[in-house]
Amino acid sequence: MTKNSGLESLLQALAEERGLDLRGYKRTTLARRIARRMTQVKLDDYQRYLEFIRKRPEEINQLLTTILINVTRFFRDPPAWDVLRKQVLPRLASHRGKPDSFRVWCAGCATGEEAYSVAILLAEHFGNELREHDVKIYATDQDEAALTTARHAEYPAEKVASIPAGWRQKYFRGDDNTVRVERAIRKMVIFGHSNLLEDAPISHVRLLVCRNVLIYFDTAAQQQILKRLEYALDPGGVLFLGSTESQLRRNNTFAPLNAKWRIFQRTGQSVAEPPHRRYEEETLRGLAGNELAVLRAYHESLLDSLEPGILIMDMRDAIISENASVARLWGTKEKLAGRLLPQSELARRCPELPKYLEQSRAGPKPETVRFEFAPARDRLLSVTVKPILSQDQAGQVGTLLYSEDITSREGMQGTVDQLQSTTEELQSANEELETTNEELQSTNEELETTNEELQSSNEELETTNEELQSLNEELETTNEEMAERSRQLDIV
Ligand SMILES: C[S@@+](CC[C@H](N)C(=O)[O-])C[C@H]1O[C@@H](n2cnc3c(N)ncnc32)[C@H](O)[C@@H]1O
Repeated sequence: MTKNSGLESLLQALAEERGLDLRGYKRTTLARRIARRMTQVKLDDYQRYLEFIRKRPEEINQLLTTILINVTRFFRDPPAWDVLRKQVLPRLASHRGKPDSFRVWCAGCATGEEAYSVAILLAEHFGNELREHDVKIYATDQDEAALTTARHAEYPAEKVASIPAGWRQKYFRGDDNTVRVERAIRKMVIFGHSNLLEDAPISHVRLLVCRNVLIYFDTAAQQQILKRLEYALDPGGVLFLGSTESQLRRNNTFAPLNAKWRIFQRTGQSVAEPPHRRYEEETLRGLAGNELAVLRAYHESLLDSLEPGILIMDMRDAIISENASVARLWGTKEKLAGRLLPQSELARRCPELPKYLEQSRAGPKPETVRFEFAPARDRLLSVTVKPILSQDQAGQVGTLLYSEDITSREGMQGTVDQLQSTTEELQSANEELETTNEELQSTNEELETTNEELQSSNEELETTNEELQSLNEELETTNEEMAERSRQLDIV
């Protein structure tokens, strides 16, 4: 059995026999973490490790603890939190949602520092009006042990050292060794166990913080989680990812608010079934006349000279004109102008197209929608559905469909994606290093304690020694006195 198939068999057995499904996690990370645990229990073979787990059911918890790396910090990446505080929260907070509470979800909250960071920002932002806004921060993780630490809200003092002194004094109590988050802040956060791949997401969320979690999953699992996050957020809500997480680069449902710090806004697109649109035959009525025909000739020759595919529709989605590139890019055979888009060859090739048209009109304002479509195995198009507004911008008068061949760009994108996944890989390795570092530090602390104990035993021994020495001296004096007395007695 190869190493890879050994790992796959172990993962399958864990899922089927123990209900622990780790198959969505990146294999490289899993292989490293499981190898680490196997070394701790002195095994070097997946099959033998599986037998070990079968004999010791409690080993599952140890394995899970090794796999779920919960490195975290208060206000991790401070500049990102600054953007959230200064630019994002004021906008979010001014918009009252439904239900009328300010709901936050910290998904993958580890030991709680992130959720308390959000609570501090909101307490600062709302000040005396905090109660009126009914803030609820739901913080979830799969790691029960981490959640227990989070609920206690007690941390070593050095963990809060980088928090601004004013906030430290206001929101933490304790001494030089240990601090505890203030009760008012603790009360804002509700911790709970939830597996992002399996459990129902929280709903009607206005701010969703899911940082440094997606990096541990493979692409399919990342997409699955993103779908849940998309459902959880109300339109207009904000998603805050980790600084190396770029899974939303090409996503229609999230618009970047701050691309550098991976802060996105859920756009107001509805995915409801589009209403049936009535079509009347006289599509081009009113577009007659010689003058118009000449203008049209100019317009068409201009369109035909362009490389991208361009198609223009009126408000009933009847196609007014198309350029030659449309047929070349989409591989269509029939002439499209004069037909209704949903009944045209274009929609037969891309059945999703009418849905995107509806999406661009679903919100309070018409919006541009982008998506990708492969009309052939070796061709990928980037398609933009762009509302055409009237001259005074008062309303929509039609729609432009713009399509561009991005096949070669995708090739480059593959390289960029590879680089991205290497970066993610590096970060997760880095976090593992941090864990190892913390473990080393705690071993070091244990050694120091042992050392201190030895030193104090040593000191005790020295004291005893000194006591013995003084006793000895006393005995010697007594001895000398006795000898003197004996001498005097001899003389007598
Ligand atoms: C590196 S920590 C990130 C903590 C925090 N969000 C931050 O950025 O500082 C990743 C967290 O994701 C959690 N996690 C991993 N898989 C999960 C899953 N399937 N469902 C929920 N949480 C998960 C881990 O337990 C861990 O606490």
